[in-house]
This record gives sequence, structure tokens and C-alpha cells, in this order.
Amino acid sequence: MSRDAPTLKVSYDHMLTRHVASIGVMERRNYEFSWSDGIFRDCVKSGYFCQRVLLGDELIGYAVMQIAADEAHILNLCIDKPYQRKGYARELLGHMVRLAAQHRAQTVFLEARPSNSRAIELYERSGFNEIGVRKDYYDSAKGRENAIVMALTVC
Ligand SMILES: CC(C)(COP(=O)(O)OP(=O)(O)OC[C@H]1O[C@@H](n2cnc3c(N)ncnc32)[C@H](O)[C@@H]1OP(=O)(O)O)[C@@H](O)C(=O)NCCC(=O)NCCS
Repeated sequence: MSRDAPTLKVSYDHMLTRHVASIGVMERRNYEFSWSDGIFRDCVKSGYFCQRVLLGDELIGYAVMQIAADEAHILNLCIDKPYQRKGYARELLGHMVRLAAQHRAQTVFLEARPSNSRAIELYERSGFNEIGVRKDYYDSAKGRENAIVMALTVC
């Protein structure tokens, strides 16, 4: 059954280079194999769609998306631990899909680890379908782990 919508409304703004240190702390808290601050800085400098999720003044999550021609690729999406399971990731994903559509993307792609059942469930319930597998895509404690590739048609 679907959870209630979050009671407090979130807002979104653009991640800037000066935000990267706090994003990096959140990234390391939420991923076993995390992006470095340098990767976030490169994404900001490259003009990717880097969004922060704010609850009042408090940072509670972020997402990074690249759009090229009519394809959008969500590269990172995270809600900080204390705020998970409240519907914020579902809202953030919807926000990123709307951004992609506004910038004329026709398909949104993303990857997830098969072991990340929370993320896969979120994406499936948001309308994404599995379209393939990338072999040995991620670092993992046991060596390498495949990526499930998922896609959503937005128009
Ligand atoms: C995956 C993640 C983004 C989910 O964020 P969230 O805010 O907890 O998700 P939501 O509350 O919006 O939940 C939306 C849906 O996700 C799924 N979900 C979320 N948490 C779940 C959990 N612990 N177990 C199973 N499903 C879960 C459910 O389908 C849920 O729908 P429901 O509320 O109707 O049950 C969050 O756990 C996270 O940031 N994890 C660390 C980073 C990460 O793994 N990012 C994804 C990389 S591919």
C-alpha cells in the first residue's frame, strides 16, 4: 500500500560548488561505495542537472542527472537516512523526470545494483522498467556487481 505523502513540503535548488562538501558527507553516510567530492564538482562544472532537496533550510537529499539530446540519465539520487521511507525519494524522482521532460528528453535512464531492492522498488513503482543489465558495472565487497538498467519514457 502506498505511504502517505510527506507532511512537510520540500523545495529544490541547484547544487553549487560550495555545496559539495556537505553533499559529500551525506553521500558517504548513505553509500558503501560513494562518489568523491571531485565527481560532484565535475558534475556541477559540466552543467549537469544537480539538485539539492531542502526541508526548510535543511539539506535532506540530492540528485544528479545528465541530459544529452533526447536522453536523460539519472546518475545519483539520495535521501539522507533520517528522512528515508517518508516519500521524499518518490517526490525527488518525479521532480527529476519533470526536469528531463522540460528539457525535451524523451527517455530517462538509470542504473541500480540488483542488491539495492529499496531503489529498484522505488523505480518500478514510479514507472521505470528494466531494459538490460551491465555486467560488472559497480565495485562491490565481493569484487564487481552488475547494474540493472532501467528506463522510463516521458513523452
Ligand atoms: C533508495 C532511496 C533513494 C529511497 O528513498 P526513500 O526516501 O526512503 O524512498 P521513499 O520514501 O520515497 O519510498 C518510495 C518507494 O521506495 C521503496 N522503498 C523505500 N524504502 C524502502 C525500504 N526500506 N524497503 C523497501 N522498499 C523501499 C518503496 O517502494 C516506496 O514506496 P512505498 O512508500 O509506497 O512503500 C534511499 O533509501 C537512499 O537514498 N538510499 C541510499 C542511496 C541509494 O541507494 N540511492 C539509489 C541509487 S540507485
